[in-house]
Amino acid sequence: MKHLFLIFLFLTLASCKEKTTSINNKEALVEERFRETYRPQYHFTPPTMWMNDPNGLIYHNGTYHLFYQHYPEDIVWGPMHWGHATSKDLVSWEHKPIALYPDELGLIFSGSAVMDTNNTSGLGTKDNPPMVAIFTYHLMEGEKAGRKDFQTQGIAYSLDEGETWKKYSGNPVIGNEGNIKDFRDPKVMWHDDTQKWVMSLVAGDHAKFYSSPNLKDWTLMSEFGKNIGAHGGVWECPDLFPLEVEGSDETKWVLIISINPGAPNGGSGTQYFIGDFDGTTFTTNQKEIKWLDYGTDNYAGVTFNGLPDTDRTFIGWMSNWNYARDTPTEAWRSAMTLSRKLTLHKNSSNGFYLKNYPVASIDEYSYDTVEHDTMKNGMSLSSKNYNEQRLDFKIPSNLDDFELNFSNVNKESLKLSYDSSKSQFILDRTDSGITDFETSFGEKPHIAPAIIDNKEDVDFTIIMDASSIEIFIDGGSTVFTDQIFPTTPFTALTFTSEDATIANLKVSKIKRIWK
Ligand code: FRU
Repeated sequence: MKHLFLIFLFLTLASCKEKTTSINNKEALVEERFRETYRPQYHFTPPTMWMNDPNGLIYHNGTYHLFYQHYPEDIVWGPMHWGHATSKDLVSWEHKPIALYPDELGLIFSGSAVMDTNNTSGLGTKDNPPMVAIFTYHLMEGEKAGRKDFQTQGIAYSLDEGETWKKYSGNPVIGNEGNIKDFRDPKVMWHDDTQKWVMSLVAGDHAKFYSSPNLKDWTLMSEFGKNIGAHGGVWECPDLFPLEVEGSDETKWVLIISINPGAPNGGSGTQYFIGDFDGTTFTTNQKEIKWLDYGTDNYAGVTFNGLPDTDRTFIGWMSNWNYARDTPTEAWRSAMTLSRKLTLHKNSSNGFYLKNYPVASIDEYSYDTVEHDTMKNGMSLSSKNYNEQRLDFKIPSNLDDFELNFSNVNKESLKLSYDSSKSQFILDRTDSGITDFETSFGEKPHIAPAIIDNKEDVDFTIIMDASSIEIFIDGGSTVFTDQIFPTTPFTALTFTSEDATIANLKVSKIKRIWK
């Protein structure tokens, strides 16, 4: 008997040891996976495999939910699921189990999520109202058969804070009788004035607006955009919301539309319209095309539901359909932009325009900040790794021609410059490292018109994270978001300008979010 007990004790201890070793191994594996060369350390990336658009952004009960287009089997686009992650501060994210899987009605394309607080859908109860996801079903079989009605809209609901989901049995909630080939990406909001749900949806070259009392029965109200805005490609991922003009009590409506291809610097990009929405129709006097970002890697971005209107918070997919499938990463593909606050401004040179700038909580992640003396023509600084740092500075008095050059020991460089004769900023990644995985990636510099309040004391924030750079000029009036793949981190920073100087330069490291 005593022997038996000793054997049992030995086996139990051995199995415990095995378990701890395997937990340790798993932790080591996770740690290794999140230290991959190009893996951003404080931007959201999927644990493994493919990711594209952010979906169902919603803030509820103190938690931010990020769902995303996800193919868990490969690092290229495939049958779409909704991945899921949550955050308390919009910077650190916790990976959650996959929320939505494809079913017999199709793959789960992009869409949004709302809290149905009054249980208008009847999918929950008054005491436990449902979180409802509204998405596009994409039926591969229909597409392959050459039909045009393969995209329809469906809903699913969660009664446990987004942890688990059930599809609604009456799906699809919007069919495709019109045989519209590109008919997708529903963004739903509660319209308080008319007490109904409003959905923005895209249909090839325009947006359609629907309304519903209960998220299940939808009525087409109006259309927008056939002859206005950029039309170099198909319209995708609409987002309609009100926003107060800073420094006034005027409220306008913003309509964000992603477009692919047709962006100013090639491939996928995000345009927006400023106008009015009366509960039925969106109208605008805007003549010119407005772009949210002049880098090539901010696409399919939308804003959170569930936050006050003054807190319009945006996340975009940091890639471009031109080369999204080819970027040189192996275990995972694509990151999200930093969460950014959108604000609306108006001045005589730009009319209405949006600024987008990282949310304040990212400031809490800065550490080891070093303040530098004024930089003048020809001066250089060095650092162990600019690819994990944030730079804040200003160009005092008059903005004049300059070039800011990040370089590394392999003679790769990434340059931001200003051309006063054209009033343009230029971000040049053509020699920034690995660029040859696709022709357009390193083909030409990215150009942005200088959308700034005025040329005195212009603020710059530059944030690099392994394989991305985000540049915010004048608090986000002009923005570049670009992927970069240097073969070794940038370690030198050189400033060239006859007349301009860099003042108040602060260089900070940013804490990593993966544990
Ligand atoms: C935008 C997009 C959406 C679509 C999804 C599919 O990047 O093309 O229009 O719903 O990706 O993954």
